[in-house]
Amino acid sequence: MSIATPKYLSQSLAMKYFFVAVVLFGAQLVMGLIAAYQFVNPEFLFNVFNFSTARMVHINALVVWMLYAMIGSAYWMLPEETGIETVGIKLGTLGFYILTLAVTIVVGVYILVQVGPGTEASIWLINEGREYLEAPRWADIGITVVVLIFVYNVFATVMKGKRTGITTVLMADLIALAGLYLAGMFYTSNITMDQFWWWWVIHLWVEATWEVFVGVLIAYGLIKVMHANRQIVEMWLWIEVTMLFGSGILGMGHHYFWIGTPEYWWEIGALFSALEPVPLVGMLVHVIYDMGKHNGKVNNGPAFSWFIVNAFGNFLGAGVWGFMHTLPQINIYTHGSQFTAGHGHLAFYGAYATILIGMMYVAIQRRNGIEEMRSTATSKWAVSLITIGVLGMTVALTLSGYVQAFVERAEYGATWDGYFIAQGATWFTQGIDWRLAMGVVTFLGFLLLVKDLLTIAKRSKALAN
Ligand code: HEM
Ligand code: HEM
Ligand SMILES: [Fe+2]
Repeated sequence: MSIATPKYLSQSLAMKYFFVAVVLFGAQLVMGLIAAYQFVNPEFLFNVFNFSTARMVHINALVVWMLYAMIGSAYWMLPEETGIETVGIKLGTLGFYILTLAVTIVVGVYILVQVGPGTEASIWLINEGREYLEAPRWADIGITVVVLIFVYNVFATVMKGKRTGITTVLMADLIALAGLYLAGMFYTSNITMDQFWWWWVIHLWVEATWEVFVGVLIAYGLIKVMHANRQIVEMWLWIEVTMLFGSGILGMGHHYFWIGTPEYWWEIGALFSALEPVPLVGMLVHVIYDMGKHNGKVNNGPAFSWFIVNAFGNFLGAGVWGFMHTLPQINIYTHGSQFTAGHGHLAFYGAYATILIGMMYVAIQRRNGIEEMRSTATSKWAVSLITIGVLGMTVALTLSGYVQAFVERAEYGATWDGYFIAQGATWFTQGIDWRLAMGVVTFLGFLLLVKDLLTIAKRSKALAN
């Protein structure tokens, strides 16, 4: 059976989204390296390109490249799942250009205007000031419009073409994903209320709607890469979706412990967030189970290895590292420490970066009609170095976080003095040095990844001839 598919415009658009995603991923890592180096040498670029700006661009680029890659994956899957070209694809393509222009302007302004008063005008034009969602209001509105076009593309196409379990879940998820973004847009002068709603975007995205999106991608990926049985894969998908929404929504309570919300959030947050790893175990079992059943029939080596790293990475980064600090009795010591940053890195990487890179390989293979795409040495080095790098950063930050929990919080009772004593402790600073070293490893892996994405199709075709 040939896997060559007709050249759908939807899939060309997907490639465009993937391209920008990789560029932004690279920008994210450069910003991370600058910020990590500033931890070691605080003078570096001081007052020219401050830590606060580098950090902000680092995490904004992260969220945006992942959204690009998710939208790209959806445009990629749609024609294959529905059997038809995406409805309204011209509008979708226009949306892509508008979004990319907006992202470029937003980042340019971040870099040009790094300090200044927060006013009504700066919220509209420069920076909204909410971590991860700093984009100014004009861009928020632009993003909403583009996302609405995307949602229209998906719904109109699924309604006209064939409907599968995968696309049904995708549609439900997109409504939630797009709707939640609005919760991060309105303004209240009460900081507790502001944080309360801000978490609706950040937590409900990454621990509910994005995870469901990943479930959709795994289901699709397993069918394409290993010819997994659609019925089994879709059955798992429904189970995961039910569990993810179940635990993820009230699990949000783990961010309401210390922001001024009522104390009943301690119990709610503790119980439901502790349940959050359960669906992640389900996903892990799901992938491993399907792999066991389809031994030897993998048609895309690199995508397959990224799917494996995803299964373990999601489980470890979100499930294990998340669980470690999710009970209020523990969180009171670890809150806002490097422990949190360690978890943030492994979770975003394990749950999202991996699967999205895997999808890029699936697209490259199928776009070029390659029956079997084997991993090259470069693909293997790329996935290994990036994974070792991110794991290394996570372990280093976890150790630094322990020093903060024990020295700053437990021993010195979270005093100002305790903060500085912990920041100077050898174990803390060593962790910060190792994070930088492991960041460099990650970056080397990224360069190999880019090389591989650009060359693997040619090499596989040469091999086949
Ligand atoms: C893929 C899914 C996940 C991602 C991407 C993720 C990412 C993050 C990030 C980036 C933060 C820091 C937020 C900030 O800047 O304030 C955070 C905080 C937190 N996460 Fe997750 N997370 C995920 C899943 C989970 C799960 C399943 C749990 C619990 C079992 C969990 C528990 C926590 C807790 C308790 C905090 C607050 C830490 C603190 O108090 O400083 N996370 N997460
Ligand atoms: C070259 C590799 C990287 C380096 C050197 C790096 C460095 C950093 C630094 C210095 C920060 C600021 C931490 C702080 O405020 O104390 C940060 C934050 C963050 N980075 Fe990275 N990073 C890298 C790669 C990544 C990757 C691959 C991801 C995810 C896929 C990621 C996700 C995050 C997140 C979510 C935060 C915010 C964490 C929080 O709020 O607790 N980074 N990174
Ligand atoms: Fe959360």
